[in-house]
Amino acid sequence: MSNTRSNPLSARIGAGSLTLVQGDITSESVQAIVTAANSGLRGGGGVDGAVHRAAGPELLEACRELGGCPTGDAVATPAFGLRQAERVIHAVGPIYGRNEGRDEELLASAHRRSLEVAAAEGCRSIAFPAISCGVYGFPIARAAQIALVVIRDALLAGQVEEVRYVLFADAEFQVFAQALRDLANESEVVQLAS
Ligand code: APR
Repeated sequence: MSNTRSNPLSARIGAGSLTLVQGDITSESVQAIVTAANSGLRGGGGVDGAVHRAAGPELLEACRELGGCPTGDAVATPAFGLRQAERVIHAVGPIYGRNEGRDEELLASAHRRSLEVAAAEGCRSIAFPAISCGVYGFPIARAAQIALVVIRDALLAGQVEEVRYVLFADAEFQVFAQALRDLANESEVVQLAS
């Protein structure tokens, strides 16, 4: 397992940018940090565990006050101990295979709602983890295609300005990098940075 990090891969899309990063999302300096939550907003392991650890116990208290979030939706809280951010956006992705064939629609929706909520909160920069690609079991190659199309459309619409997609493992980064190159090959609105 190489411990060297992959170099970020960026693309200009509309007036904005999308950058794929390999690393820990809690290190990203953006206004909105998305976590892959469960519908009960109970916190958990994976990226949700990392975000809650970094933000501190107030995050879980704020989640308790919200009471929950349906699959495919997203809600915002303050970022508390994640001092470089203004908001944490709790996105609930689908548990793969448990949604009567609506997995893809719900994964797209979790990304779309995260972008809408970020924009409503006045956040122009946002970082995503690979929602549903961990314990929720979504096949990552297909998830990458779905996520990048939703993000492309939000950037073209000027909904946000800077999107960073943060992949924890190198293998995950490589899958997303290939999906971004494929997207750049099929639509000239996605311009890979040289
Ligand atoms: N930074 C960025 N990405 C991370 C980090 C991190 N610190 N830690 C893990 N990941 C990546 C995983 O490698 C995976 O690609 O986040 C992606 C999503 O995996 P999970 O965190 O397991 O999220 P998900 O598959 O959506 O399952 C959500 O897990 O943690 C619980 O409370 C959460 O019940 C919810 C479920």
